[in-house]
Amino acid sequence: MTNPSIISSALPNPMLPAPFVVEQVRKETNDTFTLLLEPVNEHREFRFQPGQFNMLYMFGVGEVPISISGDPAHPETLVHTLRAVGSVTNAMRMLKPGDTIGVRGPFGVPWPVDKAIGKDIVLITGGIGLAPLRPAIYHILTNRPNYGKFVLLYGARTPQEVLYKSELAKWRSRFDMTVEVTTDRATGSWMGDVGVVTTLIPRVPFDPHNALALVCGPEIMMRYTIMELEKRGVPLDHIYVSMERNMQCAIGLCGHCQVGPVFVCKDGPVFRFDQIQDWFKKWEV
Ligand SMILES: Cc1cc2nc3c(=O)[nH]c(=O)nc-3n(C[C@H](O)[C@H](O)[C@H](O)COP(=O)(O)OP(=O)(O)OC[C@H]3O[C@@H](n4cnc5c(N)ncnc54)[C@H](O)[C@@H]3O)c2cc1C
Ligand code: FES
Repeated sequence: MTNPSIISSALPNPMLPAPFVVEQVRKETNDTFTLLLEPVNEHREFRFQPGQFNMLYMFGVGEVPISISGDPAHPETLVHTLRAVGSVTNAMRMLKPGDTIGVRGPFGVPWPVDKAIGKDIVLITGGIGLAPLRPAIYHILTNRPNYGKFVLLYGARTPQEVLYKSELAKWRSRFDMTVEVTTDRATGSWMGDVGVVTTLIPRVPFDPHNALALVCGPEIMMRYTIMELEKRGVPLDHIYVSMERNMQCAIGLCGHCQVGPVFVCKDGPVFRFDQIQDWFKKWEV
């Protein structure tokens, strides 16, 4: 399943973090923030494909895998959106412009945006799962004539937790894509849909037999999404999911991310669902 041309790192030594300077720390929600990073060696290319991730190294604290959430057509600034959950991500939340962190990558198998050419494309995401899908959205919009219908369904727990609000509003105002946002609970002045993201699937326009679905979010959300897509008639081999696992090396050496016979770091994190469904059900394998 591994595609060596894709997993090869942009860095000469994939285990050696390259220094990047924090250009901006943008608060997204109460517990999420976006880091805009610039290479210390500004002449170095950092090309990536939608769905790939980097290992971000906070000196003296530790290293974590984080998806790249910027525009692949603008690789000069490296963009990551993080949720502060533990020691490394909370330390990264305290970063200031001018600070330096280490970056290894890019790693992993990307979203199959080329396989989707000529097809409808449906992105379904929950919570911070919108961040790993955002490069795919940029790519599809840059190459819009290559695709049929383009649908983005996004669910967050509350209106306060909706990521990239102004960008969602901009995408929503386009004639060439369908954007639906729902929250589990309505609070404040929320006028949008209420309910889990799967409730949106039956009502949006796409041809289930000629569509690719890209799914990213919490495990439970992905399970119900796949069931709903199946009900709608989308074949399992047209559904792609992004999986999360503990990672250390990110290049298939340490075994930390192994799930059944696959390594999430190099065979994924994006998998065609029918190829991993047995392992997907056993999440703690
Ligand atoms: C391929 C890949 C891509 C990823 N992309 C992103 C991304 O774009 N943005 C992002 O914020 N995270 C992303 N993650 C998850 C991220 O790597 C972890 O949240 C991070 O490693 C946590 O490290 P920590 O040291 O801050 O927390 P830890 O100290 O390791 O964890 C603290 C606590 O938080 C829990 N926890 C860990 N991860 C999560 C999580 N994702 N959600 C809720 N609770 C969690 C742990 O179980 C633990 O109880 C990705 C993971 C993978 C494998
Ligand atoms: S993280 Fe080491 S094998 Fe995947």
